[in-house]
Amino acid sequence: MEKIILDVDTGIDDALAILLAVESGRFDILGITAVNGNVPLDYVIKNTKKVLKHTGKESINVYKGASRPILIEPFHEYSVHGNDGIGGALSSIEVDSDDVADMFAPDFIIEQAERHQGELTLIMVGPLTNLALALRKEPRLAKWIKQVVVMGGLVSEAGKGNTLPTSEFNMYADAEAAKMVFHSGIPLKLVSLDVTKKTFLTSEDIEKLKGTHYYDFVKECTAVYRKYSEENYGVNGCALHDPLTVGVVLDPTLVTTASYFVDIETKSELSYGQTICDFGNLWNKEPNVEICLDVDSERFISMFIDTLKNTIN
Ligand code: RIB
Ligand code: CA
Repeated sequence: MEKIILDVDTGIDDALAILLAVESGRFDILGITAVNGNVPLDYVIKNTKKVLKHTGKESINVYKGASRPILIEPFHEYSVHGNDGIGGALSSIEVDSDDVADMFAPDFIIEQAERHQGELTLIMVGPLTNLALALRKEPRLAKWIKQVVVMGGLVSEAGKGNTLPTSEFNMYADAEAAKMVFHSGIPLKLVSLDVTKKTFLTSEDIEKLKGTHYYDFVKECTAVYRKYSEENYGVNGCALHDPLTVGVVLDPTLVTTASYFVDIETKSELSYGQTICDFGNLWNKEPNVEICLDVDSERFISMFIDTLKNTIN
């Protein structure tokens, strides 16, 4: 079983990523670390615990991480994820957001990376604040970690960001953290909007889950996201940004990749949080990121649906 830590800012697609990770049966999930992002940290923890309870895996520990970015003021995405972060779903599930593991998330990442040197994969689907803090505290982390797979950025599709024209939410929400991570030497794979925007879960896809344990939750939690997509992109669907990031760990052949030097803009008002990929090697720097150039969207959506379909109601 692949040892992983999932770092989340649960949000709707984070919740779907947790479902895929848990139901894949392929991961030894050492813990889930929570970070301020889509919604404030308290909601992230509450939503993550609700989703784990819904999967029956409340035994997986949740670790409290950074409650704010390293430098800028917090910026949340209520318009996409709803006021609570999961579109109002699982409202009947009671959890205590104070009931978290007794260790700061960055310290847990360091502890587990040292204990499982060369074996631990970090799946990062929120802003990179927790990982940046862990690297600042223990730079050897970059050598201990097997791989970090990050949902974030956009590299080829310049100008088609979801937060600024140049910038994707996870990078924008803490660009200083992202810059620290991208310059740390840690082995990075970037699952960017270039590919995640192609993995749209439509209302028709969701109907294939009818009769399964997750049908009601997936339909309810994605409703606000699908409405946002319909209003902004004309498609009633939910981009599976975070689930694809988990999918890429489950099956790396889902994406076509190449390695380049990528840096993060932190000074510009116009393009704060931009992931700048040096395709022409103009900066003459060693590649630091494996970027995703394309994805087998159909095969991934089938993987997602088939994994969740295996759960009878
Ligand atoms: O830009 C999409 C990313 O930002 C996803 O991880 C979503 O959950 C938000 O965190
Ligand atoms: Ca997320």
